[in-house]
Amino acid sequence: MSAKITAIRGMNDLVPGQSSVWEQVEKTLVETAGSFGFSEIRTPVIEKTSLFSRAIGEVTDVVEKEMYTFEDRDGDLLSLRPEGTAGCVRACLEDGLIHNQEQRLWYRGPMFRHERPQKGRYRQFHQFGIEVFGLSGPDIDAEIIAFSAMLWKKLKLTDHVRLELNSLGSPEERARYRDSLVAFLEKYRSELDEDSQRRMYTNPLRVLDSKDARTGEILADAPALAEFFGTETRAHFDGLRELLDGLGISYVINDRLVRGLDYYNLTVFEWVTAALGSQGTVCGGGRYDGLVEQLGGQPTPAIGCAVGLERLVLLLEALNLVQETPAVDVMVCSMGEQPAREAQYLVNRLRFELPEVRFMLHCGGGKVKKQMSHADRVNARLALILGDTEVAGHSATVKILSSGEQQTVPESDLAAFIKQHI
Ligand code: HAM
Repeated sequence: MSAKITAIRGMNDLVPGQSSVWEQVEKTLVETAGSFGFSEIRTPVIEKTSLFSRAIGEVTDVVEKEMYTFEDRDGDLLSLRPEGTAGCVRACLEDGLIHNQEQRLWYRGPMFRHERPQKGRYRQFHQFGIEVFGLSGPDIDAEIIAFSAMLWKKLKLTDHVRLELNSLGSPEERARYRDSLVAFLEKYRSELDEDSQRRMYTNPLRVLDSKDARTGEILADAPALAEFFGTETRAHFDGLRELLDGLGISYVINDRLVRGLDYYNLTVFEWVTAALGSQGTVCGGGRYDGLVEQLGGQPTPAIGCAVGLERLVLLLEALNLVQETPAVDVMVCSMGEQPAREAQYLVNRLRFELPEVRFMLHCGGGKVKKQMSHADRVNARLALILGDTEVAGHSATVKILSSGEQQTVPESDLAAFIKQHI
């Protein structure tokens, strides 16, 4: 036997059982996005590397050390997408979707980051994201947050996630804050953790995100970004808070919440759970009013967020909120060669008549007992059995597997009978 080839570390398969849970969760996400008037956009999983370095920022962890980047056969430098926003903006510009018009879009799919894998953190993971272009008021910020709150409500997670909210102000306010933060940090330079010492000059706001205890103590006395806000930023944040209060969405203000991607301004938020250990952020997002222009478009306000699907499923599992749904409703069995052929023709007619019902045709023959245990194994609710008598009578024997009860049903009544019993 040859040696087995294994999957890449941090990249997972989804096998039946798991995939049915994902399907249910994604159905809720897609339905909810639809109920908020969003349309789907699909973009490639590979883009030019320059798109991500320009959009996400050269000195972010994602661009500095986490991208899967390679030269293709034409010598172009490409990367697997580490997130969905940059590609979405690129597509909107290229396809003329945001020229003098607003857009509300959703997407889902795999993203790739070369992080250290652990529970809830993978190298291929999946996001469900939404992005809105062309609206600058706090009403759309509240709408985006209401979308995520609606998801938690539908998935029965409301009591298990908390909303952390912050404002990053305008680029000018942040630049002034940055100077004052750096001046403050310089006084404690040697006491800061290694990462923070490095970030202090390249991306000082990220120091606020440090998990190091001593750095945390030092930061307690650091100047606050909010002290640098002007009236517009304040009005935007207050407007959003008022709407969230009105919507009954509770939140905590976390003035250390800065997010790991550089494109944000004003509103930023994360939904965090305590049930998943250190990888507890299930959704993150915010406003990025400068990004469209930065990528070559007209100035266009924008806001969005993305849910991490692995974390969402892990959370649902941890709280016992998911049920595996059996893949089969009806097992179709037969005895003998002619009935086997008839069963195959019959099930195909039924599939067309009842597209929502999941039928499995038992293949390969064998005794009825073996076919019935096949039906039990896949957790089917009904078994249709065709033998010579049923074929001659244009009927089928239907067994209700939970009770063992069975009866002969004429073919003309079969569809109605099945519908009633599953
Ligand atoms: P992000 O915070 O980098 O934001 O990622 C969003 C979510 O993706 C996280 O909250 C987390 O649930 C999940 N996630 C991130 N990295 C991993 C990983 N290595 N393994 C598993 N899950 C992960 C963005 O990507 C922005 N594009 C969100 C956004 C959209 N902002 C505006 N619009």
